[in-house]
Amino acid sequence: MAKVTVVGAGNVGSNTARRIAERGIADTVVMIDIVEGLPQGLALDINQSSPTEGFDTFVVGTNDYADTADSDVVVITAGKPRTPGMSRMDLLADNAKIVGGVTEQVAKYSPEAILIVVSNPLDEMTYLAAVKSGFSKEKVMGMAGVLDSSRLRFFIAEKLGVSPLKVDAMTLGSHGDQMVALPRHATVDGKPLPDLLSASDLEELFDRTKNAGAEIVGYLKKGSAFYAPSSSSASMVESILKDSGDIHPTCAWTTGEYGVSDVYLGVPAKLSRKGVQEIVELSLNDDETAKLVEAAEAIRAKCQELDSVL
Ligand code: NAI
Ligand code: 2OP
Repeated sequence: MAKVTVVGAGNVGSNTARRIAERGIADTVVMIDIVEGLPQGLALDINQSSPTEGFDTFVVGTNDYADTADSDVVVITAGKPRTPGMSRMDLLADNAKIVGGVTEQVAKYSPEAILIVVSNPLDEMTYLAAVKSGFSKEKVMGMAGVLDSSRLRFFIAEKLGVSPLKVDAMTLGSHGDQMVALPRHATVDGKPLPDLLSASDLEELFDRTKNAGAEIVGYLKKGSAFYAPSSSSASMVESILKDSGDIHPTCAWTTGEYGVSDVYLGVPAKLSRKGVQEIVELSLNDDETAKLVEAAEAIRAKCQELDSVL
């Protein structure tokens, strides 16, 4: 079976490790952090829940990259989270150093791994991990769209008073201001979303989704969301390990899809043991396409800034 490494044993990392173990999709989950004792203690705690939760994945906590060797999938969550008033982009300089260094170690010990980047700013850190690993681009992706879409689906369900399980909706674009919501493609119990909510209600829900991370940071005061982010990360790991080809909104390298090339962008993608097996092209109207292209160009500009300091 499979070995997964989670880099960063903070809130997102430790919960991602726990969720992967609880899903029973890997033999081993290695959690690595620079803080000595932290991943070891958390791994022990997760392992002690295995008889009660009913899983037999073994979780290893370590500070040594040798223990991560030959991982099939590596989830990178190392880095600083936001505090109130901070944008994700304010993390760029600090997290670029962390994610750059981590990726070099990961690539050295697991040259065949698929990388899922979670650290913020997400789109730019995914690009950085691709550059630093030297891996082919389909093997490096970022997690954000699953989270943003899940948040939107919950908000729609809450607004309409229905089960979130009846809501299907997707966000594309960036993990930030250029998030692109697609109401025409969203459904509730099979009915088109625009038939159920007014344009102003939809706008309000999309705005709340765009700011959902900040809303939680505002409540927590220090640190950011981790239950929904870890769930989103684990679901991507599961599709990869099961070679399912399931479609997830993924920060993936574009090669002409939606008229966009050579930039990481949130797009629907089939995930499998190859990584991003295929980017799926939904039929977008001119306005939706324009917003997606705008998101791509904003990410490209930030990555060019990163290039100048690499
Ligand atoms: P946290 O502060 O709880 O955990 C971060 C961990 O990274 C800490 O344990 C720290 O010791 C570790 N770390 C720092 N430098 C390291 C290094 N060089 N090597 C190994 N570990 C290192 O933060 P949290 O809440 O877990 O968030 C982690 C990152 O994920 C943040 O950048 C946050 O903004 C991002 N995030 C992204 C989301 C997304 O949708 N893409 C959603 C939620 C968080
Ligand atoms: C979030 O959206 C901080 O990116 C993180 O919760």
